[in-house]
Amino acid sequence: MDSDLSLEFLRVVEQAAIACAHTMGQGDRHKSDHVAVEAMRRVMDSVPIDGTIVIGEGERDEAPMLFIGEKVGLVHSKDLSGPRPVRYAEVDIAVDPLEGTNLCATGAPNAIAVLAASERGGLLHAPDLYMEKLVVGPSSKDSVNLDAPVRENLEAIARSLGRRVEDLVVIVLDRPRHEKLVDDIRATGARIRLIGDGDLSAGIAAAVVGSGVHAVMGTGGAPEGVLTAAAMRCLNGEIYARLVVSKPEHEDRCRAMGITDFGKVYRASDLAPGKSIIFAATGVTDGTLMRGVRFFGDGTRTSSVIMQNDPHRIRFIDSIHVATAGDVKIRF
Ligand code: FBP
Repeated sequence: MDSDLSLEFLRVVEQAAIACAHTMGQGDRHKSDHVAVEAMRRVMDSVPIDGTIVIGEGERDEAPMLFIGEKVGLVHSKDLSGPRPVRYAEVDIAVDPLEGTNLCATGAPNAIAVLAASERGGLLHAPDLYMEKLVVGPSSKDSVNLDAPVRENLEAIARSLGRRVEDLVVIVLDRPRHEKLVDDIRATGARIRLIGDGDLSAGIAAAVVGSGVHAVMGTGGAPEGVLTAAAMRCLNGEIYARLVVSKPEHEDRCRAMGITDFGKVYRASDLAPGKSIIFAATGVTDGTLMRGVRFFGDGTRTSSVIMQNDPHRIRFIDSIHVATAGDVKIRF
């Protein structure tokens, strides 16, 4: 996949973030999500690709835009004006136009607009089920096990980081299903950050040294798991994950996506096996790694991360989108 596409995908997540940031704190998560989806869809059609959505807003009948299987990119655009490339890269795309709809609707930290792309077949087609997850950074990636007791995993993480278990910070989604997990973590003395939503941005933070986050544990969305895996491929972190298949209906949904081994423990290279991965995210609200969108009258400022594994490059990008002509003052 052409690495120049990374800056094209940057535009896509920036515009999705800007659109929904206007709705921050308005208490309407559906509206926040809707405007992010619309903006992402619109900009996606200006990217010179032959794209297929493999993780999106749902099945075609429940999502008018960015549904699974939808074709996106300039080759499919109805706008026939402007120059067009001769060849288009065939790309699979996973999107979450607004990860943390409630976070945006309440103005809470760590809402992001995000996508991952790879060559065809490079991202698992995961059903929108729950997924058990354990996300760690590069130092701990080979020392944990999804089925090991919590204490064992935390001791292994602490050892690999050269610190005490009491010094670790573990992020867990604040959900009743995590009551025992939280008790088990507390029993080790490790510190916990309970979050309302957003285990994807938490997972990214766990793989970045200095973020103050050392692991993410618990059950969240499978689509977010695939996106986390794409980020881990670029950050050298790791996700261990297993789909939660507890009803015959879940089995049917897995089979429909070609998954037959329901108990499989996936790692990042299983969830995002692509040779060439691009991951792009823009902060909507202020977060651990990225600031939220700031509007300053003459324009807008966004904070993003673009990651690639080939060439291996992580860029933190601060953009100023100037809206008015004339004497605009740019601040450092
Ligand atoms: P939305 O962006 O759809 O609001 O999802 C946010 C999120 O918190 C994810 O980060 C997480 O994986 C999932 O929802 C958890 O699902 P649930 O809210 O059902 O526990």
